[in-house]
Amino acid sequence: MQKMWSGRFSSSASSLLDEFNASIGYDQKLYNEDIEGSLAHAAMLHKQSILSDDELKSIQDGLAQVKKEIESGEFIWDIADEDLHMGIEKRLTQIIGDAGKKLHTARSRNDQVALDFRKYVLRKNQEIATQTKELMEVVLTIAKKHTSDMLPGMTHLQHAQPINFGFHLGAYLSMFKRDLERFNESYKRNNISPIGCAALAGTPHNIDREFTASKLGFDSVSVNCLDTVSDRDFALEILFNISTMMMHISRLSEELVLWSSYEFGFVEFSDEYSTGSSIMPQKKNPDVPELLRGKSGRVYGNLMSLLTVMKGLPLAYNKDTQEDKEGVFDSVETIQLSLEILKASLATLIVKPENMLKATKIGHLSATDLADYLVAKCNIPFREAHFITGNAVARAEVLNIDLSEISLDELKAIDKRIEEDVLPLLQLESSMNARDSQGGTATKQTIKQLEQFENYIKGL
Ligand code: ARG
Repeated sequence: MQKMWSGRFSSSASSLLDEFNASIGYDQKLYNEDIEGSLAHAAMLHKQSILSDDELKSIQDGLAQVKKEIESGEFIWDIADEDLHMGIEKRLTQIIGDAGKKLHTARSRNDQVALDFRKYVLRKNQEIATQTKELMEVVLTIAKKHTSDMLPGMTHLQHAQPINFGFHLGAYLSMFKRDLERFNESYKRNNISPIGCAALAGTPHNIDREFTASKLGFDSVSVNCLDTVSDRDFALEILFNISTMMMHISRLSEELVLWSSYEFGFVEFSDEYSTGSSIMPQKKNPDVPELLRGKSGRVYGNLMSLLTVMKGLPLAYNKDTQEDKEGVFDSVETIQLSLEILKASLATLIVKPENMLKATKIGHLSATDLADYLVAKCNIPFREAHFITGNAVARAEVLNIDLSEISLDELKAIDKRIEEDVLPLLQLESSMNARDSQGGTATKQTIKQLEQFENYIKGL
């Protein structure tokens, strides 16, 4: 079969080349963007009197039929056509004849693929932002229920200070908000039309790029054609946005795995989102967060892969760039499915505040409060206060109790300056609520933070 570009060739391409060179096996995913782009391009050619009324009409009808054939599964994706652009154009010309051959006037596959892929990425930035908003709503609903339920706040995975579970989830809401903003910002930054750049240098035809751009919903037209046909920053951005968000999801997942162990027992996944073991009948495994944690690996890989493909490419289009799509498709599909299952599994998560509370009573979480008391009340320098408190902790360990349970006599034996008014301060709840500074864990502050997230979500 004759290739569209075969004019200068005397023998036909080897089937090995066809197999190696083709992107049609995967770029067919862009068929909608390709057809929309062709319709807008044809409308512009018509407005500029490059296509007649009849030619435009038959291109529109022909593309509608091609779309129908693709969606019904009738369309034949032939590897010999190399990519979807040529596959669709070939079929269009079979259906409508010579008018189909005029569609590629003032256009190259270089600006065509730049358009299709950019449109796909823009759409996915929006879809993922919407899913992120829905995830935030689920997390917020849980957080609001637990603004007084304490668990040990940790550093170095060691018990540190008492915090509430709403505050803990507020940290993830902060991360997801930044993620959402990144997807939206990428959309805004990249909503620029590449079409009309042709192969690399523009075209001698009298085209109207602004017209095509506005028909396709772009905010503006790209400035420099050489850059436009070779730029893949928009794809790198979504890969980075996805990687960062999957890193956040992976951190939450790690905590969910830990929390659903017997050792923690802070949460339990509903049966719907838990798995069993093929040999150990008693097992209930947290496969969902484990897989979510694991999936960050492949999306990081996709980011590194495209960065490497792009590195060192001379201007302008190079075939290397064809390697841009599969990794992006994979990362997009990975995060979209991940977000769906994360939302669903969190919505049915069983939270166990009683076990969280038990855990706060281990590890002398109010030790800093004793040190702060010695500083504020007894005017003792913080370093000395830290040392005295260390002695009190050591004494509590000997007595096999938590510092929040120590008696005044024991404390007085360590330092005479300590008085009765210290005792309420050592209670875990007052310790938590004492952290009432802006952004802190006090219930009052947590509620304020959650209100901010709620308002943010409402304003989207
Ligand atoms: N299949 C190609 C890609 O995905 C389309 C552009 C090809 N352009 C060219 N001049 N060979 O990048």
